[in-house]
Amino acid sequence: MAGDLKFPENFLWGTGTSPTQVEGRVTNEWTDYVAADGGNCRVACDHYHRYEEDVNWMSRLGVNAYRMGIEWSRLQAAPFAPLNRNELERYVHLLDCLKAANITPMVVLHHFSNPPWITSAGGWLNPAAIPAFVDYVKKLVSALKGRVYLWNTFNEPDTYASLTYLLGGFPPFHKWRFASYRKIIKHMAEAHAQASRVIRREGGGGKTPEVGIAKNWTSFGAFQTFAVWDHFLAAVSHHAFNRFVLDEFLGGSRREASTFLGVNYYGRARLNHFQALVPTNGVSHEQLKQLGIVCDDMFERHPSGFGKLLKQFHRRYGLPIYITEHGAASTDEDFRIRDLTQHLRELRAAMDGGVDVRGFFYWSLLDNFEWQFGYTKKFGLLSVDFSDSKLPRRMTRVGKFYSGICTARETAA
Ligand code: FCB
Repeated sequence: MAGDLKFPENFLWGTGTSPTQVEGRVTNEWTDYVAADGGNCRVACDHYHRYEEDVNWMSRLGVNAYRMGIEWSRLQAAPFAPLNRNELERYVHLLDCLKAANITPMVVLHHFSNPPWITSAGGWLNPAAIPAFVDYVKKLVSALKGRVYLWNTFNEPDTYASLTYLLGGFPPFHKWRFASYRKIIKHMAEAHAQASRVIRREGGGGKTPEVGIAKNWTSFGAFQTFAVWDHFLAAVSHHAFNRFVLDEFLGGSRREASTFLGVNYYGRARLNHFQALVPTNGVSHEQLKQLGIVCDDMFERHPSGFGKLLKQFHRRYGLPIYITEHGAASTDEDFRIRDLTQHLRELRAAMDGGVDVRGFFYWSLLDNFEWQFGYTKKFGLLSVDFSDSKLPRRMTRVGKFYSGICTARETAA
């Protein structure tokens, strides 16, 4: 199976996590949050204490890259404060463990969480977040200089801004505040541009630093061909969540701010009478099945859209691409393996067609705290038994399958 999915020798085969979802012991806006399943992120996978073991697991998987977050709230106790030494050393040690295991890190600087002093000052609605973030980046980049060359400033700015101020899913749970949504995106885009200058000037060590955002891509459409109102809503959603965001981050003078484009791709949302037909919107599997919609436990799958999107991005931006997230949440491992195979075939075909893709990061290394849904969504290459206080990890069949692909790279043509 892995044999027909050949990729370039230097391709990054990775996996990813984010601090709030796996580390435990975070002090940010998620600390007191209780998810739909009653779970919280206070211990999560205890990656904070067990990162060495998790790096060993990554070696066993055969990945050569790891997309990991560094939690801002651990490192700065106040605006413009020096970085916390102990916390910094812990991350440095993690990076050194990765290096010893020949695993290239991609560091994410913002993944849906903020230090409490940012939150209490109005979060990203307040333009003061921009210089504070840039100061943090400056200090971190200088501390990690020789260790990191791949930097991902913001993870899914549109998911963050929409769930906090449009859809009420993430703290501070506001709804339909369109002006706030736009403001957050604009502030983050400016912070990205400024942070990028710092990273490109001072980061990278021996290697040329690379910097980009991770853009979540959902394509919106109408389920019924003649439902004009659903087509209209799909067009509006596409504009608000895709076009506007990419224009802010990659348009005009910001064109130069990124050296790559990170793409998080899970699938599409089709609308039926204004309702998105996806499990995350509360539509039952039974109903989706009856409508012929193929889903994991969160989104409608749409592999052919993946290839098309990559070609489109290539034509429009001409930037190298990293697939910063793709994965499926399900306890049906055959389904997940099929899903991965289909998406990798699309990826391979897009690359054959000239799209410059440099790496793929499977979401996620571990089953983890999936934000509003808590521990019910199983994305891990390794499963975690959250009912056991030792949080044992176990290799899944998807993990074994992915491992076959990652380790086939040496023999790939
Ligand atoms: C993405 C997030 C990631 C995880 C996956 C399932 O939107 O970046 O943290 O929640 O979805």
